Amino acid sequence: MESTVQQKPLGNTGIMLSEIGLGVWKYSGGVEPLRRGVELGAFLIDTAEVYRTEDVVGQAIKGIRDHVFIATKVSGSHLRHDDVLRAAEASLHELGTDAIDLYQVHWPNSSVPIAETMKAMAALVDRKQVKYIGVSNFSTQQLRRAQAALPNHPIVSNQVLYNLNAREIEDELLPYCQQHDVTIIAYTPLDDGRLAVKSRWRRQQGMTVLEDIATQTHKTLAQVALNWCLSRPNVIAIPKSDSVARTEENCRASGWRLTQEQVARLDEAFA
Ligand SMILES: NC(=O)c1ccc[n+]([C@@H]2O[C@H](COP(=O)([O-])OP(=O)(O)OC[C@H]3O[C@@H](n4cnc5c(N)ncnc54)[C@H](OP(=O)(O)O)[C@@H]3O)[C@@H](O)[C@H]2O)c1
Repeated sequence: MESTVQQKPLGNTGIMLSEIGLGVWKYSGGVEPLRRGVELGAFLIDTAEVYRTEDVVGQAIKGIRDHVFIATKVSGSHLRHDDVLRAAEASLHELGTDAIDLYQVHWPNSSVPIAETMKAMAALVDRKQVKYIGVSNFSTQQLRRAQAALPNHPIVSNQVLYNLNAREIEDELLPYCQQHDVTIIAYTPLDDGRLAVKSRWRRQQGMTVLEDIATQTHKTLAQVALNWCLSRPNVIAIPKSDSVARTEENCRASGWRLTQEQVARLDEAFA
């Protein structure tokens, strides 16, 4: 298979994941963009029971299941023990597979004890319906508590908002995850497309520098914005696109690196 996308370790599992994955929230592109992304080495596909796109992921991976790493999520309103088990069964059915590679708690729910949720997650691993456990939208403290409630399995990832315009995780969560081998899966890495298009009206400092670096590197705005995410250790990014051409463009955000100086300019311009 033709491959462009580089890989990073998933937590401390020893397995490698594509540093660009394919997000499918509000996705309506059919099977082609996903299949093309996988062909280019973006073999991580990220869905969720609430997205209602597990079925199209299931169609896209027919015949190539062994080449794809499927991440899906249990809704934060399904975190009681038996609800987690039922949600996983439903996701397996929609995806048309025997096992979910990464099963993530979509968002924390303070009305359900985390130990109850994690017991169900562990049971799914023991039944081989899930390979690895992750979380999403967890603060450092919530992540610590979740890990403490799951003594025999590592939490390998935390999927959180991260892009040039949204850098809150840099204060505490990102350093914590880097120290504890938890992969950060950066969602909305293009700030919902805002970082990928030039605007005549929006002359903010950050966009001017982004455009300048895109010209310097002969890359697109989206590629520079994604590569900036990837410049952080432990971080992978999961842009969503309905189009084959933009999926190819996003995959080509990997396979090269911004210089330290370019990263520093972006850090400062978007501070
Ligand atoms: N865990 C969570 O709570 C959570 C929350 C939000 C998102 N996510 C995950 O993160 C994924 C990505 O986040 P997102 O969909 O919110 O935002 P995003 O990936 O930052 O942006 C998606 C938007 O950017 C456009 N786009 C994509 N590539 C482009 C390119 N190269 N040039 C110009 N425009 C481009 C897309 O349009 P086209 O489709 O028309 O190309 C779409 O409108 C989701 O699909 C989901 O898997 C998770």
